[in-house]
Amino acid sequence: MRIPNPDMAEHLLKEASRLNPGKWVLHNRVAGDCAFAIASRCPGLNPEAARILGLLHDIGRRFGTADLRHVYLGHRFMMELGFADSARICLSHSFPVKDLRAYIGNNDCTDDETTFMRLEIEKMAFNEYDTLIQLCDAISLPEGPCTVEKRLVDVVLRHGFNDLTVEKWKAFLELKKHFENRMQCGLYEPFDNLIL
Ligand SMILES: [Fe+2]
Repeated sequence: MRIPNPDMAEHLLKEASRLNPGKWVLHNRVAGDCAFAIASRCPGLNPEAARILGLLHDIGRRFGTADLRHVYLGHRFMMELGFADSARICLSHSFPVKDLRAYIGNNDCTDDETTFMRLEIEKMAFNEYDTLIQLCDAISLPEGPCTVEKRLVDVVLRHGFNDLTVEKWKAFLELKKHFENRMQCGLYEPFDNLIL
């Protein structure tokens, strides 16, 4: 896979943390740990690769406070470094429903950036790393892993509903079911310290 090695991934996150400190860094670390724990129980997945993909999924936040644009910037940054598989995760992690409108938050991208992302997402056939990080993003608070339902309700309380919210909730619950089948256990079983 075209992803940074563990030392490079750590360097990139630390550098990003200096450029734009915030809770997002801890959220990414939790997502990386969740991805490792789940992938470890899924035959055929590489846990260390999953951890690195989780660790860097929001790397676009290194450029400062951004809403949807962190997705675009993260993808562009990782492509420039030659890590195409990490770059696609920067893009795919926010779209369990393949529709830019499913992103809850502001679209602070230019029209060209928006068009680029829309086309990239539409043509993307999600692989299991895409779906794994989508799920891990949804269960990773900066303080540790939480239930999908807690996180989904929390997002709606902060940002409100739109007409794709229910579809998005269903998509996350499908992801949960998928990885429970793959692991042959409940989603939260790999986590000792689940925040309820
Ligand atoms: Fe995230």
